[in-house]
Amino acid sequence: MQTFQLGQFTVRRIGFGAMQLPGPGVMGPPRDHDEAIAVLRRAVELGVNHIDTAQYYGPDVSNELIREALHPYPDDLVLVSKIGAIRDADGGWPTAHRPEQLRSAVEDNLRTLGIERLGAVNLRIPDHPPTDPDQQVPLEDQLAEMVALRDEGKIAGIGISTADRAQVEQAIEQAGIVCVQNAFSLLDQADADVLDLCAQRGIAYVPYFPLGSAFPWVPKVTEDPTVQAVAERIGATPAQVGLAWLLSHRDNILLIPGTSRVAHLEQNLAVADLDLSDDDLAQLGTAGRR
Ligand SMILES: NC(=O)c1ccc[n+]([C@@H]2O[C@H](COP(=O)([O-])OP(=O)(O)OC[C@H]3O[C@@H](n4cnc5c(N)ncnc54)[C@H](OP(=O)(O)O)[C@@H]3O)[C@@H](O)[C@H]2O)c1
Repeated sequence: MQTFQLGQFTVRRIGFGAMQLPGPGVMGPPRDHDEAIAVLRRAVELGVNHIDTAQYYGPDVSNELIREALHPYPDDLVLVSKIGAIRDADGGWPTAHRPEQLRSAVEDNLRTLGIERLGAVNLRIPDHPPTDPDQQVPLEDQLAEMVALRDEGKIAGIGISTADRAQVEQAIEQAGIVCVQNAFSLLDQADADVLDLCAQRGIAYVPYFPLGSAFPWVPKVTEDPTVQAVAERIGATPAQVGLAWLLSHRDNILLIPGTSRVAHLEQNLAVADLDLSDDDLAQLGTAGRR
């Protein structure tokens, strides 16, 4: 399987995203605990050495499943988390961007995963500017705390997530980031500009929602008629076509598709052996986009 650098680590281009492991709404225990454990073990068995998680998935659920399934961890496994939110009792995602909140979020991740250093941590920018004045923390101050956490050895690399181009440029300048995690897929290429910037700078670009997520309001790559037609022609599944398109799109893309099922995980990892032809790519260029 091809690799790309995630900061100081060489990781395989197909990793795993742990957001689908907790219960509905990314809250509470998994639908099927044994299947969740099996997914994680099978991922590593099939060569995954990059897992994306967050303490706020569950909360604690994804991290505790990862620890239960995989600890003591393989030497080459890079665990990446994200911070900048907490969960409330209703399953909401209130922001948590004060420097002391960022620090305690990193420490919560270290504790629940049972490690002393995270491979990378993404600073998750809120979808909408916070209305709470207490949460209106300048990006410069947040990045300064991330740098301090890296200097202390709690984080190997810093990333930024859901960031616009100006925020990514600021993070590159101030913190020397190793990855950007933004929404991007065959059906949602609004972030192409940031992807290109990352490609030029040798920074890993880790698209979230590569298949359109489990959230009902996000268009599903697997439901796109063009994707389905290509899949049928080449004997692949629509999900595989969507992921193969991402791999062929830019060399610095690292995949972290999320799944709660071993069968889907195996399909997603088999994409390493799926080459799309020029004709396939031309046809996919006509797929519906946002
Ligand atoms: N930085 C951020 O703000 C942020 C936001 C969202 C996500 N993330 C990260 O990005 C990762 C990927 O995003 P995501 O999990 O939200 O969405 P995604 O990977 O685009 O899609 C996940 C959905 O696709 C389904 N799926 C997966 N493999 C499939 C297959 N082979 N065939 C058919 N359906 C399949 C899953 O269902 P099944 O469980 O049934 O397979 C699930 O409903 C997350 O796991 C998380 O680690 C980060």
